[in-house]
Amino acid sequence: MRGIGRRSPSPHLSRGEGRGEGRRHTPTSAQAAAPHPNPLPTEEWGEGTRWRQPAGVFAMAAAAGFAAIATLALWPITDGARAQQSADPLATLKAKFARPGFVPSPPGNPPTPTKIALGKRIFEDKELSSTGTISCTSCHDPKLAFTDGESLGKGVTGRPLARHTPTLWNVAWSPLLFWDGRASSLEEQIRFPVEHPDEMGSSLENAVDRFSRHDSYVRAFAEAFPQDPRITPANIAKAVAAYERTLVSPPTRFDTWVAGDTAALSASEVNGFRLFAGKGQCINCHSGFAFTDHNFYDIGLPNEDKGRGAEINLRAADYSFKVPTLRELAWTAPYMHDGSVGTLDDVVRIYEMGGIDRPTRAKDLPPVIRLTDDERSDLIAFLMTLSSETPPQPSREAWVHAAEPTTRPPPADTTIVSQANKLFQPHYVRLKSGQALTVLNDDTRTHNVRIYDPRFDYNSGAQEPHDTVTIRFPARGTFEAFCGIHPSMRLTVVVE
Ligand code: HEC
Ligand code: HEC
Repeated sequence: MRGIGRRSPSPHLSRGEGRGEGRRHTPTSAQAAAPHPNPLPTEEWGEGTRWRQPAGVFAMAAAAGFAAIATLALWPITDGARAQQSADPLATLKAKFARPGFVPSPPGNPPTPTKIALGKRIFEDKELSSTGTISCTSCHDPKLAFTDGESLGKGVTGRPLARHTPTLWNVAWSPLLFWDGRASSLEEQIRFPVEHPDEMGSSLENAVDRFSRHDSYVRAFAEAFPQDPRITPANIAKAVAAYERTLVSPPTRFDTWVAGDTAALSASEVNGFRLFAGKGQCINCHSGFAFTDHNFYDIGLPNEDKGRGAEINLRAADYSFKVPTLRELAWTAPYMHDGSVGTLDDVVRIYEMGGIDRPTRAKDLPPVIRLTDDERSDLIAFLMTLSSETPPQPSREAWVHAAEPTTRPPPADTTIVSQANKLFQPHYVRLKSGQALTVLNDDTRTHNVRIYDPRFDYNSGAQEPHDTVTIRFPARGTFEAFCGIHPSMRLTVVVE
């Protein structure tokens, strides 16, 4: 489809950076001459180093959309990384980016090989569109790292879409989908592109009609859904979602390094990682194995689009967009929600300039970042270590298909929850019926406590630092709360 064949194998690298010129980024003589002291002084790391909990905690939170029940604090550290822990001063930091041990999926849609295979077939099927010409792969092309290579993609009408097509790498971990988070699960997400008049201009009901004409589909649905062997909109959505959860970005040189092979990265790339975690404070938002915390921030791009703010009708979230994964960046340009930035060099320069200073500008961004030319190229060299050397294919690691652990520590008996460092603490609490829950904003950021529940629709509005909200639950039972701006923050409340 569009875009295929127009890309060189080394796309979108700026100004001579990258694999075209030898993948290893041989450090310049200046860089080679200047050793990078190890470890850095602590103040240079900023708060970033203590902000995030292990990736496993987030994976847990994302496990089942808003009905998450899974394991707490699973934090697989590879044996290599563990062995290094004492010797390697970067070990703690590296461990924050260790690959996870399972792919989260909701209780109602466990993955099976037949379901995943069916989902892949539907994902590639043009019958999903009104014209029979557009499939999901037209815009999320597996040969182009599940992007379309365009600033703004086009569907059945040929009109450019309002926002840039994001890659689908690692969407399994994203609690909310789309740049503005308007879909709350992959199962819910699929109807948006299918029904969008400019994307596929059809409906899942039409797809049911079309698929029902093919015996092979009738059989495939029966095998994938033995309990409910029908072609239905819900089963189409489940199959495609199960397939999308297998789109885990493959291990790269960075992962080899994290796993303990210190020779896997060059000095320049390691310095780039230090800048990423330290001076650049990129880690404040691009954290975890997928290099995103899946929250929404305004990074100061010039824009009319209010993003998350328009979606949840909250000014504090205006101009905020979901943090994209930084995996496979070499293959996913152009960048940003509007596809306006063509190269990583330009991305880094935008962060250096600091973007538009407006009230919504993320507090997680430093005001300006002063980088030397060598530092900028080190930072970009590091980012490139998150990309495959050849066009990436979904990971084949065993854990991608491993079963998800189901045990979970018991809830805490408390009526007070903290939000410091973008985490509900504790995040699993038990109240007695009639007790109110106090949620402190002891963080530096604005939060927005929400509960979407047929029994209880709760929205704190913009909860500024130092504001406290008190929540009185209307009934016994389990309630899931989250932050509308930082949806990786999840809180489960059991009212007994
Ligand atoms: C015509 C191009 C086009 C087609 C066809 C298309 N998409 Fe997309 N997709 C987009 C764009 C553009 C966005 C971002 C829209 C936004 O955020 O407002 C997107 C976003 C997504 C996301 C959210 C990713 C994230 O990180 O939040 C998922 C998942 C997705 N699409 C899956 C699909 C599936 C499944 C299909 C087929 C049923 C499909 N898309 C068809 C263009 C397309
Ligand atoms: C405050 C949170 C935050 C910080 C800090 C941050 N980013 Fe981002 N980053 C984002 C968000 C949000 C986007 C998407 C913005 C948009 O599309 O409007 C983004 C987009 C990107 C992209 C484009 C990816 C794509 O696929 O479109 C790159 C590359 C990137 N950031 C790298 C960095 C680097 C390097 C740093 C440190 C210098 C950094 N970021 C610091 C939140 C952050």
